[in-house]
Amino acid sequence: MARNHTGPAAATGNKYEIIGADVPDETLFRGDLLVASLSESPRSVNSIYYYDDTGSLLFERLCKEETYYLFRTEREILAEYSKTIAGITGPVSLIELGSGNAEKTTLLIDAYVETHGLTFYAAVDINRSILERAAENILSVSSDLNFLGVVGTYQTGLAEITSLVGPKLLFCLGSTIGNMHDDELDNLLRSARSALSPGDYFLVGIDLDKETEILEAAYNSQTAILTNLCVLQHLNWRFSGDFDLFHFRHVAFHNKSLHRMESHLEAMRAQSINLQRLKFSFHLEEGEMIRTEIMRKVQINEFNDLFFDYEFLNVKYWTDRNQKYALILFKVS
Ligand SMILES: C[S@@+](CC[C@H](N)C(=O)[O-])C[C@H]1O[C@@H](n2cnc3c(N)ncnc32)[C@H](O)[C@@H]1O
Repeated sequence: MARNHTGPAAATGNKYEIIGADVPDETLFRGDLLVASLSESPRSVNSIYYYDDTGSLLFERLCKEETYYLFRTEREILAEYSKTIAGITGPVSLIELGSGNAEKTTLLIDAYVETHGLTFYAAVDINRSILERAAENILSVSSDLNFLGVVGTYQTGLAEITSLVGPKLLFCLGSTIGNMHDDELDNLLRSARSALSPGDYFLVGIDLDKETEILEAAYNSQTAILTNLCVLQHLNWRFSGDFDLFHFRHVAFHNKSLHRMESHLEAMRAQSINLQRLKFSFHLEEGEMIRTEIMRKVQINEFNDLFFDYEFLNVKYWTDRNQKYALILFKVS
């Protein structure tokens, strides 16, 4: 699906396009990787399986919950500092990884359009329907914008933007980077570094480490429980599975030593599971858990050090007034 995207100037007149529909599902949702992670001890499922159409809608609902402070706090920071960010980077092509419905992104885009005029914005997401909603959200607030939706993984999306000419701001909001395990984060930072050039920017929204009570409240609401259980529904649909949602319960806790929240699904009875399309069966004991997501809770300095190893230098960071969440701007050295 590689094409020549040439950034703001050359994109004039081409306001709305979604590409990537030709990438086969098997490339995006790798059954072999799922079988491997379900065969390990402890068993796990990649958090990509949260985001079918139902899961994406549930995530939007979660973002509006009182206890889920992440959405509000990031929006608060963007509302206050988007213009500052646009001022620091100057005119750039905007590329977002895991855009979701891009509701908060409208604040950033507004600032760029107001400060620099016509802006090019590419949104990468695994879910096509959410990209359509992102386009609606973005284009309803801005007319001076060229929108490119890329249906794909972070990796296929980053491969797509290597053909973009001119300065860029890559960004990833919603603490999405916090869902990645060390090897996934390493992969992402390597790919991001090679897709960008010296002088380009990378803006990352990330949740900060905090009290267990606040963290566990955020990930144990009714919507969080439903969202987690729906991962099984997604697996049943995609791989002809026979998970019975009534035989699992949601468990989310603060793993203090690893500085992260973890969501799991616990088997409430011994059972055998068959994923027909993958020709894969396995047995779960009563009480056995399948980990469905990690959510890193970071210290800003440690995060800066990690990014430094990939040639991303911290330019500046901003937090909300209660210091719950941070938006960090890095520049490629
Ligand atoms: C935590 S949500 C954040 C959404 C939005 N950025 C926000 O701040 O509200 C993560 C988003 O990344 C997408 N996503 C998850 N895993 C992905 C992957 N491996 N490749 C591409 N997109 C992915 C999901 O569909 C979802 O929209």
